[in-house]
Amino acid sequence: MRVERLLSEPDGRILPPALGGGLTQGALRIWSVDLDSIALPWALTLLSEAERGRVAGSALPERGRRYGAAHASLRVLLAACAGIGADRLVFESGAHGKPRLAGGSGLRFSLSHSSSEAVIGVSRGGEIGVDLERIRADLDCERLARRILSPAEAVAWAQVAQRTAVGDGPASLEEETRRGAFFAVWVRKEAYAKARGEGVARGLASFAVTIGLHEAPRLITDQRDPRAPEHWTLHDLELAAGYAGAVAIEQATCIE
Ligand SMILES: CC(C)(COP(=O)(O)OP(=O)(O)OC[C@H]1O[C@@H](n2cnc3c(N)ncnc32)[C@H](O)[C@@H]1OP(=O)(O)O)[C@@H](O)C(=O)NCCC(=O)NCCS
Repeated sequence: MRVERLLSEPDGRILPPALGGGLTQGALRIWSVDLDSIALPWALTLLSEAERGRVAGSALPERGRRYGAAHASLRVLLAACAGIGADRLVFESGAHGKPRLAGGSGLRFSLSHSSSEAVIGVSRGGEIGVDLERIRADLDCERLARRILSPAEAVAWAQVAQRTAVGDGPASLEEETRRGAFFAVWVRKEAYAKARGEGVARGLASFAVTIGLHEAPRLITDQRDPRAPEHWTLHDLELAAGYAGAVAIEQATCIE
């Protein structure tokens, strides 16, 4: 699925997208942003006291700076989508910590950041969840697969792993393909869990999505909500090289 690029000025300020009066009813837009292109002093002027505290308190300055840049980007986008000034945005938390806008704006959003990239989805319709991961060569995919895959997904994953191990290609290419397939399924699952807002409490093994190099993203089953596959769609996101991303969208939202 197409992702728009949020651009910044040479001085490190983000250029808000031109959305006229805001996001129209039922619409969904997704943006990505290079967090290292944003100037921290400018970002800090947009953040709440709590957010500024997280920037300052981060053990790694780079991580704090990127957190600040991601939250400044979120505020710029939400203000543009709501058609109001960024200083009028008020946030609150759902039962399991999913942030949302207070005050009945009708906007839903989801933020994900990994390394120097962030993805932000905003909808004026159904719920959404986005997830982004930098494809890391040092991640033990097999170990994480045992933790997060449902039994049916584990069987499908074993088949993918077997298929990518057969053939005449170089071993490094097989490993890269397998790793790419794992990250693709991981972000689909995280996107769905984030859309539902249940966070880590939910347990990623309680639902299943499609796995495979050439299978369209789709929610197959959800133990807690058997009718969920009728109401949710999944899409892979087109992102910067080296990143995997996905979005989960509740029905009744149209992609612009
Ligand atoms: C909190 C959680 C959503 C963060 O996910 P992550 O991949 O580490 O980080 P991301 O950058 O993708 O998402 C972080 C953003 O999600 C949002 N978020 C926080 N709690 C959330 C929740 N319960 N539901 C949806 N979104 C949430 C926030 O905007 C947060 O941004 P911030 O940390 O800058 O404030 C995650 O720990 C989680 O609960 N994931 C659900 C899936 C799961 O069970 N994973 C197990 C580990 S494999």
